[in-house]
Amino acid sequence: MNHGSPDLYIAPELKRRLCGVRRVFVLTGAGVSVESGIPAFRGTGGIWGEWNPEDYATPEAFERDPVRVWQWYLGRIENIRRAEPNPAHRALAELERRLGPGAMLTATQNVDGLHRRAGSGAVAEIHGEIFKCRPVGPGFMGERPIDEIDIDMDGLPPRDAEGSVLRPAVVWFGEYLPPGPIKTIEEFLSIPPDLVVIAGTTAGFPYVQDWATRPKREGAILIEVNPDMTLVTPHADAAFQCPAGEALPRIFSHIEV
Ligand code: OAD
Repeated sequence: MNHGSPDLYIAPELKRRLCGVRRVFVLTGAGVSVESGIPAFRGTGGIWGEWNPEDYATPEAFERDPVRVWQWYLGRIENIRRAEPNPAHRALAELERRLGPGAMLTATQNVDGLHRRAGSGAVAEIHGEIFKCRPVGPGFMGERPIDEIDIDMDGLPPRDAEGSVLRPAVVWFGEYLPPGPIKTIEEFLSIPPDLVVIAGTTAGFPYVQDWATRPKREGAILIEVNPDMTLVTPHADAAFQCPAGEALPRIFSHIEV
């Protein structure tokens, strides 16, 4: 194990294994965007310390008070618009480019779009996208960029041309995950990756824990990058307890392609 290496020490045996890596699965969470100035959800300064998720991130909250939910999302959207990808996002995009088409997938719980803005092409956004909206109701039909609709602050919630109320196209607590990204992940994992990297997530959801640990049982290296310990840490071959923007470029420099 390689827990808590302050200098990001990478053991010779891990370096040797990283050399031969050709297929990579990455799972990210809010922590990878912290260095871009976007707060995480849990922990000191976290979003859920200031706002109650039951008032902003459930279908019931939206039904009760869609104006309040939209105002909150528009505030987050403004903050995210100003943010830039950081070295963690860029390291992931660069590794995908080096490995070549089809050899890497980044599955993210983030809705900020920063992986794509950094240049990652194979991204599975399992919790949706904050820059999109869709009509309320079950399913994920009718998604469109929020820039395509007129958002009148005095006339929230926005509606489409048919008069249906529009909601942010993100996944809220108690909702199903979108089927497209899930299929993408399961198809990618059907050919076992050599390396799984889980970065910047508390890994609180069982599906995240499963995606992180399943490939390891089939021989993949499992690396975690997170200043704190998580439920995945005991399973990791190496756990780097430092910021993703520092750790990921260093780790990926040992992958020789
Ligand atoms: P969390 O806020 O739960 O966790 C962020 C993790 O990132 C924590 O474990 C931090 O220790 C770690 N972290 C902080 N700074 C970091 C850095 N610079 N580099 C690496 N790690 C860092 O965020 P998620 O795990 O993404 O869902 O949360 C998962 C889901 O719960 C979110 O998608 C959202 C949330 O409630 C919904 O809204 C449905």
